[in-house]
Amino acid sequence: MPNRRWFRLIGLSILFILLLGGCSFDTIQSALDPQAPIPRAQHDLLIWVSWLSLIVILGVGGVLFVSLIRFRAKANDDRIPTQSHGNTALEIGLIALATVITILVVVPSVRTIFKTEGRIQAEDITADDIIVNVTGYQWWWAFDYPDLGITTANELHIPKGKRVILNLASADVLHSFWVPKLSGKRDLIPNQDNQLWFVTDENTPEGVYYGQCAELCLGAHAYMRFRVIVDSEADFATWIDKFQSIAPLQASTQASVQLVQVDPQIEQGKLLFKQKGCGACHAIKGYSGGAPDKPNLTNFGLRNSLAAGVLEMPADDLELKKEHLMRWLRDPQEVKPTNRMPTLWAQDDPKADEEIAAIAAYLLSLGNEAETQASVGGNYGN
Ligand code: CUA
Repeated sequence: MPNRRWFRLIGLSILFILLLGGCSFDTIQSALDPQAPIPRAQHDLLIWVSWLSLIVILGVGGVLFVSLIRFRAKANDDRIPTQSHGNTALEIGLIALATVITILVVVPSVRTIFKTEGRIQAEDITADDIIVNVTGYQWWWAFDYPDLGITTANELHIPKGKRVILNLASADVLHSFWVPKLSGKRDLIPNQDNQLWFVTDENTPEGVYYGQCAELCLGAHAYMRFRVIVDSEADFATWIDKFQSIAPLQASTQASVQLVQVDPQIEQGKLLFKQKGCGACHAIKGYSGGAPDKPNLTNFGLRNSLAAGVLEMPADDLELKKEHLMRWLRDPQEVKPTNRMPTLWAQDDPKADEEIAAIAAYLLSLGNEAETQASVGGNYGN
């Protein structure tokens, strides 16, 4: 029946194309492109086991294939084949071979587990380690550096070459921290203290790495992304300083004397940030207290991404940064369905464009104060 064959062929082709849809040929978030010691060890193990499996498949499949061809019944040959009851030497040989293969898989597996897993006990933590308390929320990440007094969201800065110890907690449901190129994967579980540690080394390129929540947490789970930025020692020190140099809230309200000319749009955005209620949720060190269970926006202008890694904010493209931030502020649900950020402007609000642009300008200026003041200084002839 040729029709049925065609149906089967088309069905298989569709299945194949659907399966291919799961593939991605850029490796921004691939465990097959490891860039740090732990994922490298895991990758090496995967490759080793894959080669062994291939040898087993070819061996067993080859014997089966040869048997099927060589020993199949010939036409008009009704003879019963010679009956035998096993072959002791062959059976012992196969058991020995299976044992060897099992040892070849188990020994490197257990060694890799001991090398990469395991909790770092309090007494083994050194002053050199970077400690970060990671809290998963539906659907974003809080990163808190207790030793440095820094709280930020969705972007984890680490210095190259240091050991990073993450204390993982969840504020609501299960989440899972995963940066395939740098670290293993571990769940964030409510009421359970989990830890994940990883290191980078001299072969880890500095730059931005992609992370993703790897545990179905409903709603915007697929959009619960994050970035890890591997900095040089000097860049990391600069980043820390950008946070530590901001005076805390109480101190800054005392010293409210403006010494520098500030862009009026940024000033307007700064006021609107409070008037529109943004400050009730979002903390900005030195300006807004916010709520601890909402993303902290201190130095927001230094970020490479927005809405937990959903929209890019490339450092060298201010226009695109502005465009993406305004799109997000105008209609957060359009960018990231089911997220918990409200829409602050009615569809027909005539002031929406101006206000959104002002808040965007203010947020993008955070952490870039020196640059914005300098450019404004030029524009206004001061
Ligand atoms: Cu958090 Cu999926």
